Amino acid sequence: MLAQQTIDTIKSTVPVLEVHGLAITKTFYSNLFRENPELLNIFNHTNQKKDRQQTALANTVYAAAVHIDHLEAIVPAVVQIAHKHVSLGILPEHYPIVGKYLLEAIKEVLGDAATDEIIDAWGKAYGVIADVFISVEEDLYKAAENAGGWRAFKEFTIAEVVEESEAVKSFYLKPVNGEKLPAFKAGQFITLRTQVPGEQYLMNRQYTLTDGSEDYFRISVKREDDVTPNGIVSNFLHNAEIGTKVDVSAPAGVFTLVENESPVLFISGGVGVTPLQGMLKTMEGRQASFIQCARNENVAAFKETIEENVAATDGKYKAVYSDIDGYITKAQIEEFLVPGMEVYVCGPTVFMETVIQYLVELGVPAEKIHYEFFGAAMALQIK
Ligand code: HEM
Repeated sequence: MLAQQTIDTIKSTVPVLEVHGLAITKTFYSNLFRENPELLNIFNHTNQKKDRQQTALANTVYAAAVHIDHLEAIVPAVVQIAHKHVSLGILPEHYPIVGKYLLEAIKEVLGDAATDEIIDAWGKAYGVIADVFISVEEDLYKAAENAGGWRAFKEFTIAEVVEESEAVKSFYLKPVNGEKLPAFKAGQFITLRTQVPGEQYLMNRQYTLTDGSEDYFRISVKREDDVTPNGIVSNFLHNAEIGTKVDVSAPAGVFTLVENESPVLFISGGVGVTPLQGMLKTMEGRQASFIQCARNENVAAFKETIEENVAATDGKYKAVYSDIDGYITKAQIEEFLVPGMEVYVCGPTVFMETVIQYLVELGVPAEKIHYEFFGAAMALQIK
């Protein structure tokens, strides 16, 4: 437990650190990677370039610090991040390294304002927050192992490739050692790690599992138009030959179906269709409707399967093509809503913000709206 004085120091300095949050975490990352370049094999370089991860880590540490005297309030958010961490093979011994560079960055940015008392308090607070992450992650690692999964990575091979639309290909991944694969829930993801030719460090990307069995995992990947830095792994996969080896983590992730009897509405934007079409396949007696938003019909992945699956549950399907119809409207969503419905939203951030706002305005209770923002926005939710 932290002393009251330490808690008071933390709380009084959170606003100051928040103001300098981005500067602190930029300093933190540049020092961290300069002195520990091997960590670039774990972090997503694209996120680094776009400041995404910087904001996510900073926001989360500050948000956690706000709750430092009742950390149980942040556990749901920690669990989501912990799923990401375990899928990347983050270990307890990584935490002191991150802590050291974070404290040094605070000192470097705040200068004389960072008194010994302040640094000492943040050191202790980071220790407490890190312990919460480490213990949640250890539980997840153990649960995965008990369920037939594994820690960190296992070698897989690309066994089959299927074209789903002009832009999306599905990849069937099989473990090289032929072992049976664990069950997973629709909406969960794996981390795929690979050495892309010409790249200095390993690349890690999370992909939703779009299908699978004891023998294979399937991921569905959109081709990116820009080759660097966004589309490096996507383009590598789109050009990969059958038999290419990649490293794969055990399934993880908390964006899964709430198991009850309520009817469901799925609203997808672009490639956000991937987790939702997987959930749709597991409806078992529940009615499911689907609004699929895409630029046009050629890039509307899984459209036919979704229409079939929706029809089988007695639900409704609508495609909204922005090239022709413009963006999804509140009125279109309203037509699909029925009382007690659970709504799942997945797509680009602006799309999700707009759709969630419409749902709230249409009176859908917050606990019935399910979505998963990445990184920064997620961290904001726990404030
Ligand atoms: C992702 C917070 C410690 C490596 C994230 C995300 C958050 C976060 C909010 C984004 C989650 C998402 O995208 O859904 C924290 C906090 C930490 C911590 C608060 C300390 C208490 C660590 C450590 C490592 C690490 C010790 C390993 C050295 C990563 C990586 C990602 C990530 C590789 C994926 C995003 C990327 O590659 O840029 N973390 N983290 N984190 N974290 Fe942490």
